[in-house]
Amino acid sequence: MKIKNICCIGAGYVGGPTMAVIAQKCPEINVTVVDINDQRIAAWNDEDVENIPIYEPGLSAVVQEARGRNLFFSTDVDAAIDKADMIFISVNTPTKTYGIGKGMAADLKFIELCARQIARVSKDDKIVVEKSTLPVRTAEALKNILDNTGNGVNYQILSNPEFLAEGTAVDDLMNPDRVLIGGDIETPVGKEAVEALVDVYAHWVPRERLLTTNVWSSELSKLTANAFLAQRVSSINAMSELCEKTGADVNEVSKAVGMDSRIGSKFLKSSVGFGGSCFQKDILNLVYISKSFGLHEVADYWEQVILMNDHQKRRFAAKIVQTLFNTVSGKKIALLGWAFKKDTNDTRESAAIYVADYLLNEQAEIVVYDPKVSTEQIYTDLDYLNSRSSEENRARAKVVNTPYEATKDSHAVAILTEWDEFKDLDWQKVYDEMLKPAFLFDGRRLLQRETKEAIGFEFYAIGS
Ligand code: NAD
Ligand code: UDX
Repeated sequence: MKIKNICCIGAGYVGGPTMAVIAQKCPEINVTVVDINDQRIAAWNDEDVENIPIYEPGLSAVVQEARGRNLFFSTDVDAAIDKADMIFISVNTPTKTYGIGKGMAADLKFIELCARQIARVSKDDKIVVEKSTLPVRTAEALKNILDNTGNGVNYQILSNPEFLAEGTAVDDLMNPDRVLIGGDIETPVGKEAVEALVDVYAHWVPRERLLTTNVWSSELSKLTANAFLAQRVSSINAMSELCEKTGADVNEVSKAVGMDSRIGSKFLKSSVGFGGSCFQKDILNLVYISKSFGLHEVADYWEQVILMNDHQKRRFAAKIVQTLFNTVSGKKIALLGWAFKKDTNDTRESAAIYVADYLLNEQAEIVVYDPKVSTEQIYTDLDYLNSRSSEENRARAKVVNTPYEATKDSHAVAILTEWDEFKDLDWQKVYDEMLKPAFLFDGRRLLQRETKEAIGFEFYAIGS
């Protein structure tokens, strides 16, 4: 079976880049990305391709090449479903904020709405692909809805979780370590559906990297991969605190440990804490699922990864207060970086939000500079925490357009995102314009201690 028309529901950080790459690599397949958010769709269609709603290195060039040829962005969800032989569901699956499982379970209401819409609209057989990250066994619920509320057409459900990381999305999509496709491989029709999706990826991904499994293994592998990755960050962050007490240096420890080929060197960079839309949400989901099966030890084991991460963010902020003679009340503190990592404008669960909130609770005046995050987004993030009124957030937190505006007249500077440009700031100028003693807190191990101390900074870095 050859796929001719793909529809992707959800034009977000995953749906947009993933479909842009599929369209670029498969010129004979029509790809339509749909969303209920008309502003987002309008931005994807913006004449100036630099205005697409997601910043990812290399993405605008891919969109430029395919858009209007075989890549389309639309708000007409019904029409795209009707036309498609394969439908990706790539909507958000945030942590529930209400009811049973509040603060833990994944909220599947957007997924269910998609399933009901697909069932209502479809007039011929469809392959439905779970691209969103979902609790294990969600495909069962999807199938139930599709089979019971549909028009008697046949559905095959595949799980095809996405492993891209933000900031490197295009590269990750072009050269994935593996593509995971879970399906009903026991039956001929299930196998045929899996093969249809394999053929799409085989346009550019070597066959040996296309991994097929049963649906449940695929769903659970995604949660497992994120849990393992986050666990490595929490593990090295736990060690960073011990390093600070003992004179060891966390960078040296992670290098020494990472050179053991059984451990490997990636994801051992100590930081102010991991952020992003996935790690916390997916681990909480894993914890919730484990508890729901009565596996309390399994749940507690994984929950510790989150607890350690919360501790790391808090401890960094507390260090700033303590170092500034135990009070930051009325003091200007410059925060460099707001995104949860470099090369993205995404701020979801960014450590910067929590550090800022902590400092504002201590009555600091914060000034934020980030090269890609909008002012509006920064205030939205602060308001979302509900720690104080939005008027107060606007009065006490300022957002500026250059790093030097942020650092001028400040008591302390904290690096919260590892943007490359922060390495190359004129640190002498920063120092000269700050109040003295000039405190510099490196939450990303981005800067060299020796050169900063030579300028005169009081320098603190995570893990040394
Ligand atoms: P996102 O919030 O950026 O995008 C989701 C989009 O879906 C939104 O634009 C929203 O308007 C749209 N949407 C919601 N319900 C809809 C409906 N009924 N019809 C049409 N559109 C609808 O989310 P994201 O970051 O792209 O994540 C999507 C999924 O992919 C999540 O399950 C996430 O866990 C997973 N994932 C994300 C990443 C990542 O790096 N962001 C990586 C791997 C997997
Ligand atoms: C993650 C997974 O890597 C990706 O496979 C999955 O599809 C989505 O979730 P993402 O959240 O986009 O991707 O970025 P990632 O590079 O994993 O970083 C997550 C957070 O961990 C960031 O805040 C980053 O700064 C932090 N991190 C990462 C560290 O603090 N140290 C590290 O060594 C690596």
